[in-house]
Amino acid sequence: MKRLVKILAPLVLGLIVAIPLVSAQGTPIGEADTAAGESVYNSTCMACHQANGQGLPGAFPPLADHVDELVKAEGGRTYVTNVVLWGLQGAIDVNGMTYNSIMTPQSHLNDQQIADVLNYVVTAWEGAAKLPEGFLAFTAEEVAAQRATQKTPAEVLAMREALQLGAE
Ligand code: HEC
Repeated sequence: MKRLVKILAPLVLGLIVAIPLVSAQGTPIGEADTAAGESVYNSTCMACHQANGQGLPGAFPPLADHVDELVKAEGGRTYVTNVVLWGLQGAIDVNGMTYNSIMTPQSHLNDQQIADVLNYVVTAWEGAAKLPEGFLAFTAEEVAAQRATQKTPAEVLAMREALQLGAE
């Protein structure tokens, strides 16, 4: 019996250590379920950002051919999570055009719906090909961590200003 414990104990310990390591790696974006996010997008975001993600020049910024640039910046995935949760207010430049408007908070969506819709907007409109290799899908846990932070739309703008975005 003692011998058995000696043999099994390292195995069990090994498993306990290995399981969180595997789950911490997350799901590659290519394996994410984007269908759920598409329906959240269509019912929640499309009215402003439009079906094709192009937005409306001067009124609603595009997400297509743009959101990849945001998430590539350091802190960018946290920023976009906060935009959906808490909204955004103030002047931003996107592809040479200034937007100075307000996005209302979308915190009525639950954590999973926000993760889903973000997985949709980063992959839709041929965006998947523009993501860095190894980009991981947004998770409900990641959204929950930001929901605990409570921000105003102006504070979210400050987060954007701290991103090192390339010349636009
Ligand atoms: C009522 C209209 C409206 C809705 C609904 C809306 N947005 Fe927005 N969104 C805006 C506006 C306006 C801005 C720019 C705000 C500004 O000028 O500061 C914006 C900005 C953004 C940005 C930041 C762009 C950047 O360059 O920093 C992201 C990301 C975004 N929206 C995603 C979404 C997603 C995802 C949804 C749905 C869950 C959504 N939006 C719903 C109007 C909207």
